[in-house]
Amino acid sequence: MTKAFIVGHPIKHSRSPLIHGFWLERYGLSGSYERIDVEPVDFGAFLKSFPGQGFAGGNVTIPHKEAAFAGVMRRTERAERLGAVNTLWVENGIVWGDNTDVLGFMANLDLSLGTGWEKNVDTVLVLGAGGAARGVVAGLQDRPVKRILVANRTLSKSQDLVRDFERYGSARLEALAWENLDRALPEAALIVNTTSLGMAGQPALMLDLAKAPRGAVVTDIVYVPLRTPLLAAAEAEGLRTVDGLGMLLHQAAPGFERWFGIRPEVTPDLRARIVADLEAGR
Ligand code: ATR
Repeated sequence: MTKAFIVGHPIKHSRSPLIHGFWLERYGLSGSYERIDVEPVDFGAFLKSFPGQGFAGGNVTIPHKEAAFAGVMRRTERAERLGAVNTLWVENGIVWGDNTDVLGFMANLDLSLGTGWEKNVDTVLVLGAGGAARGVVAGLQDRPVKRILVANRTLSKSQDLVRDFERYGSARLEALAWENLDRALPEAALIVNTTSLGMAGQPALMLDLAKAPRGAVVTDIVYVPLRTPLLAAAEAEGLRTVDGLGMLLHQAAPGFERWFGIRPEVTPDLRARIVADLEAGR
């Protein structure tokens, strides 16, 4: 029986076991996917010991993504660019690390907007400059968008992100001061929130979306709640929205395929299952 895990601290709110459990049942596999709570001081030891405990691999979440990056033996080019690992697996005794958050974000956009959506997108406005923003920028840089603006409350962090990433892709990357956000809105064909604003228990992210172009798309990587105040405001303005749950579902698929050998599908009934769980947990 193949075993996989999600490791983090805390870990009890993670929906990943529900997603992988759904797929194990759907494909009639006798594997398992369990939550493992590991404190930061113990993470290095865990990374060394999981193959010996019979695990094929697993997911890594907050706060261990950077430690996983530093601790694996090999990394994909994508993980290398991001400095963070969220998926582990073992190949011929070697522990590998990848970052599938990027794939999840892009797959969700492609499926929600239709492939080729970049044709209508000149400028993307990314809000935030943390680990999640790095994943989003890395994904967008592989696409034919012309300009990516990174706005962050702490300007120096968006400047660091731009410095680290400007060597990749062809889009122009620019750091933007948070105070100048409203001025950039008229040019933003795609607006992406990667900050924690709008998450349950956090203040809302309020933008003057009346200033955004009529055809703009607004997406949030926050998925608790599913309809964040930002997405609700975008809908009220008649803008298209893409919620954050799709990213979570799509980032899970490549890991499942590595451990269990079947490329799983993100289906409406999987989504409905997770939505029901999110709603029950409110
Ligand atoms: P993650 O890895 O999920 O991106 P993170 O690195 O903690 O998490 O990043 C959180 C992001 O939310 C940052 O961009 C943070 O801005 P700062 O770099 O200025 O801290 C942003 N954020 C959090 N609270 C915020 C607030 N009240 N207003 C604006 N931005 C906020």
